[in-house]
Amino acid sequence: MVNRLIIESLAVRCFRNIERIDFEPTPRLNVLAGDNGQGKTSLLEAIYFLATSRSFRAERMRELVREGDPSASVKASVLEQSDRREQRAAISGGRRNLKLDGKTPERLSSYATRTPVVVFHPGDLQLGSGPASVRRTLLDRVALYFEPIAMDHRLRYTRASKERQRVLEERGSEASELEVFETLMARHGCHVQAAHRRAAERLSVALTPAFQRMAAPDLVLGVRFAPGGSEDQAEFLEALRGRRRADMRARRPGFGPQKDELELTIDGRSVRRHASQGQLRILTLALKLAELECVREARQAHPILLLDDVSSELDPDRTGAVYRFVREAVCQVFVTTTRPELFTTPDLEPGERLDWRLSGGVLSAVSGA
Ligand SMILES: Nc1ncnc2c1ncn2[C@@H]1O[C@H](COP(=O)(O)OP(=O)(O)OP(=O)(O)O)[C@@H](O)[C@H]1O
Ligand SMILES: [Mg+2]
Repeated sequence: MVNRLIIESLAVRCFRNIERIDFEPTPRLNVLAGDNGQGKTSLLEAIYFLATSRSFRAERMRELVREGDPSASVKASVLEQSDRREQRAAISGGRRNLKLDGKTPERLSSYATRTPVVVFHPGDLQLGSGPASVRRTLLDRVALYFEPIAMDHRLRYTRASKERQRVLEERGSEASELEVFETLMARHGCHVQAAHRRAAERLSVALTPAFQRMAAPDLVLGVRFAPGGSEDQAEFLEALRGRRRADMRARRPGFGPQKDELELTIDGRSVRRHASQGQLRILTLALKLAELECVREARQAHPILLLDDVSSELDPDRTGAVYRFVREAVCQVFVTTTRPELFTTPDLEPGERLDWRLSGGVLSAVSGA
C-alpha cells in the first residue's frame, strides 16, 4: 500500500520575507497566488525546509532567516495514513535544529526522509543543461529515500575530504595524517559511489517511459552513469594515495563520487551540448516525474508536490501536461502562480482546491474561489 501524506497545519516564523504565517492547507490542491516578490517561493521553500531540513535554492542557511531576526522556524502537523506527527525545523545562528514529535532525531537522514517531498522550480531547467553537480544532487535526492544511510556516508566523506585537502595544502603530500583521512574517504566514498550508481539505475528505469510519453516517439534517450571514483575501498584508497600531488595542485580531490556524472543523450548526442530548448524542457519534466516515481516507490508514500511557477518557465503545452498531472496525482500539491486565473481545475470537486493570496509575506484565503 502507498501511504497518503498530508500537511494538516503549518506555522512559519521569520522565514525569508514571512514574519508569520499559520495555515491549514487542503489535502489536495493549494494554489498560492501573488505578484512578484511577495513570498510565494519562500512559502514553498519553508515547506521544503520543514520536510528535508534543506533549501532548494539557498546556498547558506542564514539566507532563510528573515533579515533582522535571530532565528526562523517552520512547524507542521503531518498526517501519514492514520499516524499524526509533529515536525519542526528551525535555524538559529546559522545552525539547524530539528525535532520529530518533540525529540531530536538520531540522524539527519531519519528526519529528512520522514515526509517525502518533490519540488519543481525554475532552477530545475538546469537538470539537462547545467553542470554535473545538478544531476548529482538529483542522484543524492533519489538515493536518500532508497538508502537513507547514504546521506550520512556522504556527510562523513565530505568532512574527511575537506580535512585531507587542508592537510595537503598546509603540510604537503608526505604528511602522516593524510592516511587517516584517506582511509575515511575510501570507507565512506565507496558507499556514496554505490548509492549514486543504484539511484541512477532506478531513475533510468522510470525516466525512459516518462520521456517517451512526452517527447516525439522516435527520439531515443540515453542514460549512462559515469563513476568519478570506485566502489572498491582498496582501489579507492590507492587512487587517493596516488593523486596527492595532483589534488594539492588542483586544490580539490579529482577522484571520488563528487565527480560522478549522469550522462544524458538524445539520439546519441549529449543533452548538455546539443539538446534544443524544447527537448530540455521535456527532459526536465520527465526527470521530475521519474524522481517522483522513485521517491514514491522507495518510501511507499505519495510525496508532497511543490510546483513553483511552472507556467513561466514552460510553454503552454508543457504547462498543460504539468497541470493535468497535478489534477490526476493523489498527492497533496502546492502550486504558486502569478496568474491563478490560468490555472483552471474543472475536474476537481469544489472542496479539493483552496486558493490563497500572498502579499508582503502575509497569506490570506481567497473567498469564493
Ligand atoms: N532573508 C530574507 N529576509 C527578508 N526578506 C527576504 C529574505 N530573503 C528574501 N527576501 C525577500 O522576500 C521577497 C519574496 O521572495 P520570493 O522569492 O518568495 O517571491 P515570489 O513571490 O516567489 O516572487 P516571484 O513571483 O518573483 O518568483 C523578495 O522581495 C526577497 O527579496
Ligand atoms: Mg518565486
